Amino acid sequence: MTERDWKVVNPGGSYRVVVTKGLPGARWLQLLTAADCRVEVSRSTDILSEAELRAAFGDHCDAAIGQLTERWSAEMLGALCAAGAAIYSQYAVGYDNVDVAAATRLGLPVGNTPGVLTETTAQLAVALTFAAARRIAEGDRVMRAGEYHGWLPGMLLGALIYRATLGVVGAGRVGAAYARMMVEGHKMDLVYYDVRLNAELEAYIADYAAFLVAHGEQPVTCRRAATLRELLGACDVVSIHAALTEETRHLIGAPELAAMKEEAVIVNASRGRLVDEAALARHCRAHPRFRAGLDVYENEPAMAPGLAELDNVVLVPHLGSATTWTREGMATLAAANVAAILRGWPVWRAAPGLEDVLPFLGDEEPPHAAPSIVNADDLGLPRIAAQAPTKEDQQ
Ligand code: DGY
Repeated sequence: MTERDWKVVNPGGSYRVVVTKGLPGARWLQLLTAADCRVEVSRSTDILSEAELRAAFGDHCDAAIGQLTERWSAEMLGALCAAGAAIYSQYAVGYDNVDVAAATRLGLPVGNTPGVLTETTAQLAVALTFAAARRIAEGDRVMRAGEYHGWLPGMLLGALIYRATLGVVGAGRVGAAYARMMVEGHKMDLVYYDVRLNAELEAYIADYAAFLVAHGEQPVTCRRAATLRELLGACDVVSIHAALTEETRHLIGAPELAAMKEEAVIVNASRGRLVDEAALARHCRAHPRFRAGLDVYENEPAMAPGLAELDNVVLVPHLGSATTWTREGMATLAAANVAAILRGWPVWRAAPGLEDVLPFLGDEEPPHAAPSIVNADDLGLPRIAAQAPTKEDQQ
């Protein structure tokens, strides 16, 4: 890459910030400019190699905003620190591509962008669920090929998702939002599998069940499965929302797929490596009434051979967070992480959800804090105390 491949914003700024992809919106650049940053933004749409990233840091770089497509290994983070960086912020909520333990050893804060993509990603999982169950992509192909010759009683019959059983693997922020959308919208009984009990989700669904009863309808149910196999065998739809770690890689492989119902729908809008993609392709080929909706892939941007030929699989290119509002919000949060650490501000209260990060997203002066630093507690960084709930909050 040459100098022409980088756009420089606020060239006179005192802090040098390297941003490895152009980001949507203008707010993030305003925040960095206001924090006296010279911002160097890659113009390339290619994934930058480690050599290109190291060349970009040079011998002086105060901060970097990077992408989930890059590998931020211990060596890379070491090179970033050697260039003088005070923070790396990921432009994503997930950070399985970042060696956070190494960053912590190096004393480097790692930022991410939670909250702003929860509903957006959950909605994409809902869209994939119905696209797979109702054969939307097949129908689209029929229309474009001029193969629709009139309504037929047996054409492209799919599965009705109503009062069926929903399986959510990983009931964190996105998994719980997806569960609520599916349970409320389609009156499904929920089975979730998570190492942690999600008391808030369980209470929400219990309240919804009571609401249905009050309206003369059958309640919905919610239970936490003791094992993944138990969930897989019981559910008509299974959506994966687990974090990718060494332990969860290939959480769903051939034996797990074999445990699922013959006509089940599986959705993955989390991380591709949670699923053994070759096994999924084999399973879908052997079970044409089984359906899959995928947003993420094991070796992005590649796909397992054969997957693209299967009609019972709906494929989209990692679009989970792809709305203008969310992608601009992610840019704002990543920039706010960098600006706050460079200015010596504390970290925002723990585990932000959408309501918590909203103060960073408006046009007003954002809070003087870094919205989300994943290793803040390990690094002993100070946090802004959670605000005491107001009377209105409590009503
Ligand atoms: C994330 O933020 O981790 C998502 O995968 C991006 O859509």
